[in-house]
Amino acid sequence: MANILVIDDESAILEVLGDILKDEGYNVFTAPDGIEGLRILESGSVDVVFLDLWLPVKGGMEVLEDIKSKWPNTEVIVISGHATVETAVKAIKLGAYDYLEKPLDFSRVTTIARNALRMEALRRENERLKKEHSIEDQMIGSTEGIMKIREIIRQSAPSESRIMILGENGTGKELVARMIHAGSLRASKPFVEVNCAAIPDNLIESELFGHEKGAFTGAVSRRRGKFEIADGGTLFLDEVADMSLDAQAKVLRAIQEMTFERVGGEEPVHVDVRIISATNKDLRREVEEGRFREDLYFRLNVIPIYVPPLRERKEDLFELIDYFYSRLSAGRDSSRKLPEFSPEAKDLLSGYGWPGNIRELKNFIERVTILADEPVVSAETAKYYLGESGSVLKTASPEKEYDGMKLTEARDLFEKRLVERRLEENSYNIARTAQALGVYPSNLHGKIKKYGIEIKK
Ligand SMILES: Nc1ncnc2c1ncn2[C@@H]1O[C@H](COP(=O)(O)OP(=O)(O)OP(=O)(O)O)[C@@H](O)[C@H]1O
Ligand SMILES: [Mg+2]
Repeated sequence: MANILVIDDESAILEVLGDILKDEGYNVFTAPDGIEGLRILESGSVDVVFLDLWLPVKGGMEVLEDIKSKWPNTEVIVISGHATVETAVKAIKLGAYDYLEKPLDFSRVTTIARNALRMEALRRENERLKKEHSIEDQMIGSTEGIMKIREIIRQSAPSESRIMILGENGTGKELVARMIHAGSLRASKPFVEVNCAAIPDNLIESELFGHEKGAFTGAVSRRRGKFEIADGGTLFLDEVADMSLDAQAKVLRAIQEMTFERVGGEEPVHVDVRIISATNKDLRREVEEGRFREDLYFRLNVIPIYVPPLRERKEDLFELIDYFYSRLSAGRDSSRKLPEFSPEAKDLLSGYGWPGNIRELKNFIERVTILADEPVVSAETAKYYLGESGSVLKTASPEKEYDGMKLTEARDLFEKRLVERRLEENSYNIARTAQALGVYPSNLHGKIKKYGIEIKK
């Protein structure tokens, strides 16, 4: 049964409209002014609003604006006894569905209500389809790490628990967050992302909590923050480690109490959001070193999900490549076949460290399909399209490799590799290599001996 709200200060109108609509089988709420009307809308179950433009306390146009900004899918039919074409046009421009003049023509009321409800249903359906479609959000992979993540997502998505997603750049942290939201009871409500690293310190508070008109220079109107926009849904705090300590304190309070004030405002705003956060930093270390609040860490990290880097799940590499290929070819002229990789190229891709993880792989595949003009991509071409990062082919993920080594060991290994690389780049010319490294040739000789480096040709 559809819910219709009538906002009018004339009790006679509320009564008559209410009766007509109830006769049609609708659930009817009434409000004598905009404030009360908005309060009823907050409950979240109103489909269509009949709104008088001439209201006490808060003007009808203003109420219309509020409704359209907060509940864009809700259709509003405006009513006014002071009808001029101008106000009608203005109301329609602000997003009103239709316009009724007083005295009301009751035969039109039911038709308009029916049409508006149909429109509202269409909008919702459209939104749902769009969302479903944009779930390119498929998680590919069959290695143990990915299976485990799928399992945790399946178990934790429907709960309300906070989740912290950890992993390097481009591993798929946002994808995991979106999947959790999509699998939750909040799926039809907004998924709102905030990149904490991208927002300057002085703006983060207003970004998260919104501000009142005039709160600071440039605050020309009231603005809702991400917490408010995410109400009922999920708030994804990306790069959460990059928030200032000051902002952390405010976020802590907001998630503890689900209440905050807009910047420059005093009225508490109450919301219901589920928090998912992500970072590529070692948060425990950030806590130890005093850059991240421990209490916030524990609040956010109820269920941790670690997304492993691509180099630790190489078995998924070709499955991912096939997947990106198929997605690229979906919108393509089928007469042009996508290039294949030669066995050598495949070896090269398997041996590569993929420091940019899945995002890098995806970009690489896009580059190859667009730019490579050979039907079989050779190792050279593949290397070429790996681009800049191709130069780190042999030293991918240095930090991991040095895990568990003593400082001197790690330093020696690094030095050995660097000397080897410079030698190779300078065709094993000692004088030039020494110059490139900024050491004396005798010193370079010493290192070559120390590390037993082979001087080719
Ligand atoms: N397992 C996967 N299967 C298919 N596509 C994936 C997978 N993991 C990631 N992707 C895709 O790779 C891209 C990068 O993923 P995403 O943005 O989620 O990574 P991220 O960890 O948030 O990266 P960053 O740290 O750079 O923000 C996205 O286009 C995503 O859809
Ligand atoms: Mg991300």
